[in-house]
Formats: sequence, structure tokens, C-alpha cells
Amino acid sequence: MNPDLDALKPYPFEKLAALKAGVTPPAELEHVPLTIGEPQHAPFAGALKTLHEHQLDFARYPATAGMPELRQVIADWATRRFGLAGLDSECQVLPVNGTREAIFAFVQAAIDRTHPTRIAVPNPFYQIYEGATLLAGGQPLYLDCRAETGFRPDFDSVPAETWREVQIVFLCSPGNPTGAVTPLDDFKKLIALADQHDFIIASDECYSELYLDESAPSPGLLEACAALGRHDYRRCLVFHSLSKRSNLPGLRSGFVAGDAGLIAPFKRYRTYHGCAMSLPLQHASITAWNDEAHVRTNRDAYREKFAAVTEILAPVMAFPAPEASFYLWPSVPGGDDEAFTRALFAEEHVSVLPGSYMGRKINGENPGAGRIRLALVAELEPTVTAAHRIRRFIERRA
Ligand SMILES: Cc1ncc(COP(=O)(O)O)c(C=O)c1O
Repeated sequence: MNPDLDALKPYPFEKLAALKAGVTPPAELEHVPLTIGEPQHAPFAGALKTLHEHQLDFARYPATAGMPELRQVIADWATRRFGLAGLDSECQVLPVNGTREAIFAFVQAAIDRTHPTRIAVPNPFYQIYEGATLLAGGQPLYLDCRAETGFRPDFDSVPAETWREVQIVFLCSPGNPTGAVTPLDDFKKLIALADQHDFIIASDECYSELYLDESAPSPGLLEACAALGRHDYRRCLVFHSLSKRSNLPGLRSGFVAGDAGLIAPFKRYRTYHGCAMSLPLQHASITAWNDEAHVRTNRDAYREKFAAVTEILAPVMAFPAPEASFYLWPSVPGGDDEAFTRALFAEEHVSVLPGSYMGRKINGENPGAGRIRLALVAELEPTVTAAHRIRRFIERRA
């Protein structure tokens, strides 16, 4: 077997299961998991109806490029959402089966193995960036995201000789696990660096629609390109998804958009990879990208939860004010995220994810250590119940 498989790190949830092994939580308290980023809000019914109506299309093979109608709907959506001059649905858009597989596959397709290969990833981060890098024979370049830099990578800290080896920079905005949003100026700055050092920017924007201020949608990489008059989106790709936007993580539907010079070889790679999206899913996706009302309802629900949980937890934990995504990223009293997680589960039957499981120790320090990730994905009532239990757990130990 491929020896690079041995380089893969255990997934955070495997580590969490090991941490909780042997612990018996109080049976009288119902378990509230705040761990997995799987939305528990109702899936968008319109998309499911369309899926049902097109079920006989499961009898046909889909094309890798997806249906022209789907590509057009996606191009129109992204153009509206990010104020673009336009996106060519023929060559600048590709439907994918969710961002996870697309992120992984893009790295395999893009890396030039004839040169030393580094891929920059935020630290802490979504583990697929790292796994994709390792399996493509590259080395991750971990860029710490700490409170001092607004939980965003500090690109100025990377020396020019390191940039020379970097082939791809991953951004995650809004960020998992920190919830940090990349401002338009940071995108622009990174685009300038990409031109200077010849790398690709891969911007994972799968949480882009979960912003809390209805008047301030989180900006995106293509939006920065448009603001710079870079209408060919050179060196830039964005990854979007219906998983969080429409509460359809099981549909496996998203898209990649941007530089046609990157999309064409990626499409070629995908032809061999054999991962075309089935036709009923494509029809359902058209319905979902065409509807904003259900996304506003979704944001309303997250806004209500963030407000309620912030009121309960802010007096006992410090965390950045959430702007977007469905995560809270508090530091834990005492500073030991693993011990906190284990004891909280043991005493209150609430599961959270230790922040250190999502980061890597670079220069002696893991920027996720001392924090936990709370995914506010459940409905309001269990989420508030969990917040109250976390608060009483902290107060009991104070
Ligand atoms: C940062 C980030 N990127 C990508 C994904 C994958 O999402 P999907 O493949 O459902 O689009 C997730 C899922 O939790 C995520 O947190």
C-alpha cells in the first residue's frame, strides 16, 4: 500500500472517542453533542422535493462537468452574492460532491511533484487540507491563527524563500474552528503574494452563508478578484457547498469556481476520478442555489442560538465574538482543553472538541491548545441546555 497513508494523522473524532473511553456520564442527563459540524436544522424541503421528482434520472450516467443548467445557476448565484462582473459557466464553474472531496481531489490534481511542494494551511484547521497534502507528496506549511492576529494566518511572517516552495495556500473563511472571517483586504494582499510567488489560492468558503449580521455578508476570494478588476480570477479558486447553507450535508453537493486555467485540468482529473454528481442531485442543487429564503431562516436560527449561548457563557469563558459559521472557540478555564473536555463529559454529559485536536504543535506550541470548539448545530433548546451545563460545570470548579 501507499506508504504516504502512514503519514495521515488520526481524525479529531477518533482522538475524542479515545479521550472519552471508560468515562460513564450521568445517565439522567441526556447527551448533548456539540462536536460534529453537522447541521441539525431541517434540510431545505424544496431541494428534497425536486430530488424526488427527478428520481428516475438515477437511471442515467451524469457528466463530470455537470448539467449546463446547474453550472449557470451556480454562476448566477456567485455573481449575485459576491458582486462579480460575471462567471463563465462553461469554463469557470464545476459542480462537485461537496467541498471535502473537491479540496482533496484538487490538491492531487494541482501539485507539481517535480518541485519541492509546500501547501500552506491555517493552524488550527480542517484536517482534509493536511491529508490531501500528505497524500499528494507535499509538506504542510502550518500558519498559526491566534487571537493576536484575529485568528487569521499572518502571511507577513512567511519568508520569501519559503513562499518559493509553496504551490497552494488554503484559506478557510469563515473559519473552522475559529469562526474568523477573512476581510477583503487580506484576500487582496494574498492575491498580490500569489502573483509574486506563483502559487494558487484555494479558498474554502463552505460557511460563507452563515454570517450573523444580515447587512454584512462575509466576503469571498472572487469578490476580492472582482474588486481588483481581476475578472479571470487568475490563480484563485473558491469551494462552496450546500451542506451548511441548506442543511444538506448528506446531499454531497457543492461547486468549485474561479480560474478557468485551473478548472480545465481539474475537470480532466475528475473524469478519471469518476466522481460526477448524479442527475437527481444536480436538479435538487439547482433548486437550492435558486432559493435564499431558507438560507435567511437558517441564519436567523444561528443568530438566536449565538445570542443565547453568548449570554450564558460570556461571564465564565472568553471567546471571540462570533461573526459567522456555527462555531464558538472559547478558551477553557485552567487551560487544559483535553482535561476540560473529559471532565465536562463525565459530569454534564456534554461533548465538545478539544481545540488541540484541530491544530498542530509548531515551534513548541499548538495554537488550538487551551480552547474547545463548540458546534452550535443542534436546535435552540438542547444548545441552551448544553450552555447552562457548561456554565455550571465551570462555576462548580471555580
Ligand atoms: C472547513 C470545512 N471545509 C469543508 C467541509 C466539508 O463540507 P462538505 O464536503 O459537506 O461541503 C467542512 C465540513 O465540516 C468544513 O468544516
